[in-house]
Amino acid sequence: MIDYSSLISKLTDLGFSDWAGLLDSLTTKTLNDGKHGNLPKWLATLNSLPDITASSIDLNQSWIQIGAASDCKPEIRQELENQLKTLWPWRKGPYNLFGIEIDTEWRSDFKWNRVKPHITPLKNRIVMDVGCGSGYHCWRMEGEGAKLVIGIDPTLVYCFQYLSLQHYIKSTTTFVLPFSTDTLPAAPMAFDTVFSMGVLYHRRSPIDHLTQMWEWLNWEGELVLETLVIEGKEGQILMPENRYAKMRNVWFIPTPDTLELWLRRCNFVNIRCVDINQTSFEEQRVTDWMHFESLADFLDPEDSNKTIEGYPSPKRAVIIANKPEKPKKNLDL
Ligand SMILES: C[S@@+](CC[C@H](N)C(=O)[O-])C[C@H]1O[C@@H](n2cnc3c(N)ncnc32)[C@H](O)[C@@H]1O
Repeated sequence: MIDYSSLISKLTDLGFSDWAGLLDSLTTKTLNDGKHGNLPKWLATLNSLPDITASSIDLNQSWIQIGAASDCKPEIRQELENQLKTLWPWRKGPYNLFGIEIDTEWRSDFKWNRVKPHITPLKNRIVMDVGCGSGYHCWRMEGEGAKLVIGIDPTLVYCFQYLSLQHYIKSTTTFVLPFSTDTLPAAPMAFDTVFSMGVLYHRRSPIDHLTQMWEWLNWEGELVLETLVIEGKEGQILMPENRYAKMRNVWFIPTPDTLELWLRRCNFVNIRCVDINQTSFEEQRVTDWMHFESLADFLDPEDSNKTIEGYPSPKRAVIIANKPEKPKKNLDL
């Protein structure tokens, strides 16, 4: 059921056979024999998904469309919905799978609509999506014509969400792997576009993260960085004393100008901030597929411009930058 063979052959064709071999063995080990207590449950879900053939797939819709309600009987659809709900919390989406509306906590299509107009078209590009969750944006990247999309996320349940959708999509382009930036075997300088969306503020060392993204890019490749920001001048940063919007692992929230400075210091060029947006209750909320607390619980009930801790409420910037062109050889040396 867990089958990454088309990723391995694609990477081998691209000349990355050593890396492919490492990914293959580590992925299989993590997803089959990892220590997470829910692994047996998630594997059982994956192995008992009903066999339904999707009459059509549309990756270019806000609600990614996989098959139609008429592709299966109502009782099979109900069985599938019950299975998918064992893979909760569904945070990133939304998806429509054979008429089942997986209404995720986040309307990830809102972010995609803010990002897409500003990026270099993805047609034929090799793409990395760091911290990709269930892979929603990865599928949208495939919909834009990317040649290969690799998403990584260390939260195993999100990989199983991807695998459950992949069971029906059967993509030979999009692959979500159970790695973090710390555990991914050293990636070759292989990617035309690297997306790092919603990850930088979780990193203790944002500069190391940006440097790693630089290393993964081809010369002249494009970094699409989306992260929390505060208002203010170059050099200003918010480091929360403890939690930020109830999140435990938020380290640095820079101003957009500080972020641009960080990118310059990491040798990126052509740096431009293309969007700043305050997260709305329409974009992040509790749904039938995510019962935990959501944005409304993270903000001051008296003033939605402040988090419950009194910090500025979440604003997110999209910044695009390039790795420079390959340096010319110095013939005088
Ligand atoms: C806020 S979500 C963002 C998801 C998606 N990229 C988006 O923008 O909607 C952050 C994701 O990054 C993952 N993550 C956290 N640290 C990471 C790391 N070091 N490497 C890769 N993924 C990471 C988390 O598991 C989580 O799924």
